[in-house]
Amino acid sequence: MKTILMMVMTVNGFIARLNDEVPWSPEEFKRCAEFAREAGNIIVGRKTYQIMKETDDIDDEILTIVISRDVLEPHGNTVYVTSPTHALAYAKDKGFATANIGGGTALVTDLLTRGLIDEIVLDIEPILFDRGLPLAQVSIPDIHLEHLSTQQFGDTVRLRYEVKK
Ligand SMILES: NC(=O)c1ccc[n+]([C@@H]2O[C@H](COP(=O)([O-])OP(=O)(O)OC[C@H]3O[C@@H](n4cnc5c(N)ncnc54)[C@H](OP(=O)(O)O)[C@@H]3O)[C@@H](O)[C@H]2O)c1
Repeated sequence: MKTILMMVMTVNGFIARLNDEVPWSPEEFKRCAEFAREAGNIIVGRKTYQIMKETDDIDDEILTIVISRDVLEPHGNTVYVTSPTHALAYAKDKGFATANIGGGTALVTDLLTRGLIDEIVLDIEPILFDRGLPLAQVSIPDIHLEHLSTQQFGDTVRLRYEVKK
């Protein structure tokens, strides 16, 4: 199973405003949903999951794996696990070819630090804003990437990289 991190980012490197808002275009939200549909799953931190619930972005057609230290009861197509490694093991056990990591910063930092991401897909939205959340916290080690492809959707650019191991 391949583990792919898919995130949307501003041109100046933020994944959300400090108040957690994300000013992406409706088309970009659709592209993210399509990406997740293709993988059949999305793995998210508890905070990202809460935001997805509030914005009505849960897709019941795909498996949502939420990471939280709290052990919560599964519902619909959503399950809870207590660590990123449990999330990856769960997705592998279900036979997915791709584990689709949906963020946010805490989860991404943990997975990158432990060398558990194989590919990174970044959609760069045509916007900059002042102060926001980074893709990963400053504690990550240097990670080297090989560029695989670039796609353009209007003013949005999708960069795909393989993580060199
Ligand atoms: N631009 C994008 O593509 C994109 C995508 C996703 C999210 N975001 C943004 O990212 C922000 C949320 O990121 P965040 O860093 O604040 O939170 P997060 O990573 O979504 O969630 C953090 C929570 O997930 C659980 N968790 C994460 N790593 C864990 C680990 N290694 N072991 C156990 N539990 C773990 C913990 O839940 P408990 O506290 O329940 O234990 C932790 O408090 C939001 O602003 C959101 O809008 C942006």
